[in-house]
Amino acid sequence: MRIQALVLSNFRNFREITIKCSEKFTVITGPNGSGKTSVLEAIYYLSRGRSLRTHVSQQMLRHDSQTLCVHACLEDAAGRLTEVGIQRDQSGAVSVRQDGQDCASCSVITEILPILLLDTDSHRVFASGPKHRRAFIDWGGFYHFGDFAKIWRDYKRTLAQRNTALKTGQNTLEHWDTLLIQFGLKLNTARQQYLKDFAIFFEKFWSELGKGLPAVHLHYDPGWPATKSLAEALSLNRCGDEQAGFTRYGPHRADVCCLVEGRSVFDVMSQGQQKLMAYALSLAQGAVLAKHRNKRSVYLIDDLPAELDSVRRSGVMSALVQTGMQVFVTSIQTESIISELKDSSSYQIIDLSDMYSG
Ligand SMILES: Nc1ncnc2c1ncn2[C@@H]1O[C@H](COP(=O)(O)OP(=O)(O)O)[C@@H](O)[C@H]1O
Ligand SMILES: [Mg+2]
Repeated sequence: MRIQALVLSNFRNFREITIKCSEKFTVITGPNGSGKTSVLEAIYYLSRGRSLRTHVSQQMLRHDSQTLCVHACLEDAAGRLTEVGIQRDQSGAVSVRQDGQDCASCSVITEILPILLLDTDSHRVFASGPKHRRAFIDWGGFYHFGDFAKIWRDYKRTLAQRNTALKTGQNTLEHWDTLLIQFGLKLNTARQQYLKDFAIFFEKFWSELGKGLPAVHLHYDPGWPATKSLAEALSLNRCGDEQAGFTRYGPHRADVCCLVEGRSVFDVMSQGQQKLMAYALSLAQGAVLAKHRNKRSVYLIDDLPAELDSVRRSGVMSALVQTGMQVFVTSIQTESIISELKDSSSYQIIDLSDMYSG
């Protein structure tokens, strides 16, 4: 899916702005505070129903305004157009629409508009804990398997019920274990399959972007000891779970470790190299989705030049160009980006200088 045009109303510093987007690169420039990140945030909000930088969605509403709206005209690979929009008022009420019809939730837009975000913190977020790495695998699982979101919901609901039974000493653990194993194994199989498909692309992108750097091996930890089945892990640890009051093993504890010669990349690689790895991971996610589901992702890249030397930056740009996917990239100075885009029809510059208010 591609975004043809975007309209932001009462979003952050924008009262109203219409952005005609390039099919390929839309380069958003302007001084600090002109709203570059806010444009990416608006696209992210449209797809995911939440902000990329705050838990308080209300902060996106322009001060002294009643309702924010992000509206987009999307075009699929066959040239079919669809209009989508998300609106949020002062009270926090959200409405999502597609082609004039109300939608039950924003997952309708999430489904058709896959977004991959890379900002100056992406690699640190990935390094900061298994929760974020699970979210990364599950983003892939969500698009890779039609029933992934449902399996996850079933698993989470059962997990909550098992935890309640553990806390209250209810005699229902056998029942919840049976269900938890059923949903947990499905979830685990889906994640493993996704990672298997993903690893092929990751290796390819890493060998291109990280030329000269050691190979990175992805190791999947399902969330329970590899020598045991999930059923064994639950039953052997039941007493400990009862004492703890929650379930300590299962897919909710899964992780994917990135290893260089058996050591975590976060211990051995520089920030710049980790950043490069974040690009390789993200490029691989987009490529798996394109290959296996014929879906095109939209890349949001906040401040591309940060922390990458010119050779690496050039490698990233050329990999992005080759994907043929739509990219929104922000930068204070556009030269380093444009110099990589030989053909002037492949990009559009949006200069927000006039938006600068302070
Ligand atoms: N709710 C809001 N209402 C009005 N202005 C806002 C709101 N939230 C942030 N801003 C302002 O919007 C501007 C946009 O910031 P940002 O998108 O981070 O800019 P950039 O990425 O170009 O540096 C900032 O000047 C900020 O002060
Ligand atoms: Mg910014």
